[in-house]
Amino acid sequence: MYPLTYLDILEEDLVLLNQEEPKNTSRVNLHEKYKDKFLVNPTLNRSLISFQANKSEPIYRWFKYKEGFSSKFVKYILNKFKKAGSNQVVLDPFSGIGTTITSAMELGYNSIGIELLPPAILATEARILTNRINIQEFHTYLSEIKQLNFNDKSVSKKYFFKHLTITKGAFPDETEIGIAVMNKFVETKISNQDIQTLIRFAVSSILEDVSFTRKDGQYLRWDHRSNRNLKADFNKGIIFPFRDRLIQKLTDIITDIQSTPQKESSNTYTLINGSSLFELHNIDNEYVDLVITSPPYCNRYDYTRTYALELAYNGIDDNSIKQLRQTLLSATVENKSKFINLQDFYECIGKKEVFESLVSNFKENDALNEALRSLNYHRNILNNKNIPIMVANYFFEMNLIIAELARILKKGGKIIMVNDNVRYNGDEIQVDLILSEFASKLGLKTDVIWILERGKGNSSQQMGVHGRQELRKCVYVWTK
Ligand SMILES: C[S@@+](CC[C@H](N)C(=O)[O-])C[C@H]1O[C@@H](n2cnc3c(N)ncnc32)[C@H](O)[C@@H]1O
Repeated sequence: MYPLTYLDILEEDLVLLNQEEPKNTSRVNLHEKYKDKFLVNPTLNRSLISFQANKSEPIYRWFKYKEGFSSKFVKYILNKFKKAGSNQVVLDPFSGIGTTITSAMELGYNSIGIELLPPAILATEARILTNRINIQEFHTYLSEIKQLNFNDKSVSKKYFFKHLTITKGAFPDETEIGIAVMNKFVETKISNQDIQTLIRFAVSSILEDVSFTRKDGQYLRWDHRSNRNLKADFNKGIIFPFRDRLIQKLTDIITDIQSTPQKESSNTYTLINGSSLFELHNIDNEYVDLVITSPPYCNRYDYTRTYALELAYNGIDDNSIKQLRQTLLSATVENKSKFINLQDFYECIGKKEVFESLVSNFKENDALNEALRSLNYHRNILNNKNIPIMVANYFFEMNLIIAELARILKKGGKIIMVNDNVRYNGDEIQVDLILSEFASKLGLKTDVIWILERGKGNSSQQMGVHGRQELRKCVYVWTK
């Protein structure tokens, strides 16, 4: 009998717990088992495995996706694990704005990306199509855009930005009109699909700059000049006029395309707008040579709030944003268990036994169980009672993902995963080691866990309480 939800697992543990705080034994043992795998890799600095290094890279700099890693990082990995042979396939099951996909294509690989957020898909498409865009035609459109009346108050309501509840009031009135003028222009004047995509992407990528909001950790932070700011003390600095910012962005795009040689490429790519939990099953056994990825971290970060403006612009409404939030890999306290859905899905595709063995794999991970029991024991003093369930959901889903990656990887193929450990109430969750344990049960050997020279605290508040313990920021390398 499966537990209905992770709550059952945890409550079962609560009984077992008998009100005693769990010891640290399994977690210490796990650390002991893997301690020789840790290696500080001085090449992998913070800038390289974050978006930072992209800021000076033509084309990669267009859309600030703070959760992304850099093209230089992907190329470093591809060069390091290069092997002979053509038509090799690189996969990123959490492809974000497609850094892995396009970097791999640049180096001659075929690539596959899976991603759920429409604005991230749009950013990936925009970068891919730069190789085939007619730059002359794009120039002509830019000249026409410069002539547009961005204050045209007669523009039809149907072209206005469709706000979500959480984005209402995000733009000054003149920007609302400017966006509508641009939407009308794209819909009625541009027939070339690629140019439409590129211009829509340009608008999507400047929304934060022209709004009263700033992406700030978990939520959008509202400037005091908006009508929504409750605390009325935050000043985000310049709120750019829409027309200026758009023209600047389009000019940057043209400059970057012109400065980057367009090359004929026979490489293929597949970009899937869906969830890896369900889409990886469509990939054949032993099809992929290399996986380079960074899943969401187990840190309560909510992409649907941070990217609310871009999601709304890309057609997500109040209903679909809720659904999207639940479809993303569980990493927020709002995520409900996907257990039943996944169970049904595996049954439906004839993989009931696989699912059962993955449930066992999950339950037999001693260090994870200990960490969950410890979180559960401290549930009342955690700043949210759903944290233990969120952590359980996260690992359960990652276990399924790793199993699928192990299946579709060629023998000798590698998985390179960027992820951070996290801390709740002073307990470090050994994300790197727990996932490596899952991997080892699934036929993957941990070659190395590269660690960055300096970790980071979970929050300044926790640092105060728990001292300056550093959390591992890691890149794991697993081989099949
Ligand atoms: C850490 S980011 C990866 C960023 C990427 N490396 C880049 O450079 O852009 C994790 C990504 O996973 C995506 N994601 C979350 N759950 C997913 C799921 N179930 N299937 C596919 N993608 C998912 C998020 O939307 C986010 O873009």
